[in-house]
Amino acid sequence: MFGRTKQPHLFFGDDLPQDVKIDLSKHPKLKKQLEMIGLDFEDLKRIKKLQPIVEDNIEFIVTRFYEKITAQPNLLSIIEEHSSIERLKNTLTRHVKEMFRGQLDEDYYEKRLRIAHVHVRIGLETEWYMSAFQDLLNSLVNVIKQQIDDSKELVEAIQSISRLLNFEQQIVLE
Ligand code: HEM
Repeated sequence: MFGRTKQPHLFFGDDLPQDVKIDLSKHPKLKKQLEMIGLDFEDLKRIKKLQPIVEDNIEFIVTRFYEKITAQPNLLSIIEEHSSIERLKNTLTRHVKEMFRGQLDEDYYEKRLRIAHVHVRIGLETEWYMSAFQDLLNSLVNVIKQQIDDSKELVEAIQSISRLLNFEQQIVLE
């Protein structure tokens, strides 16, 4: 109608996916950590809804991730000693897609413990691990801000992703 400002298209709307899960009953402390950072079902529903966007942009996210890492000579030499960029691009692609499944369960936890051990074994220092997580968050925000018009929804999406990445760091860095 004339004179009315156009409403932004809502990304999340009312039809959020319902097939999300938090099943960490064997780990009461983790449940408390979730409460502390406010990561709940609503976050996981948003995360799950964002999964297709992440999948569509996974090449950009992963390419940028390794551009940043390989710009640091110390990190590049760890990679060359233990693996290869091509191999790691494949594992990170799988990993990031899975992050957005919206399922925090035993399988999720066990995988992260394994990944943590791998990074301890290669001697990756905590500060670089955390820097890489922040870089991942930067890329994810760049990608989703192209798709979400409504500023309230964009803030909610960024909060949910940030909580998810923080929770993963709590597991892999403990
Ligand atoms: C392996 C994720 C940061 C170097 C892996 C694997 C995953 C992963 C999923 C495969 C683990 C497996 O084989 O089960 C991540 C995530 C990071 C991160 C999510 C941070 C957001 C880094 C950084 C380096 C690095 C900063 C820099 C050196 C490696 C290497 C391996 C590896 C060399 C292979 C180790 C081996 O197979 O012996 N990473 N990584 N990662 N990552 Fe990372």
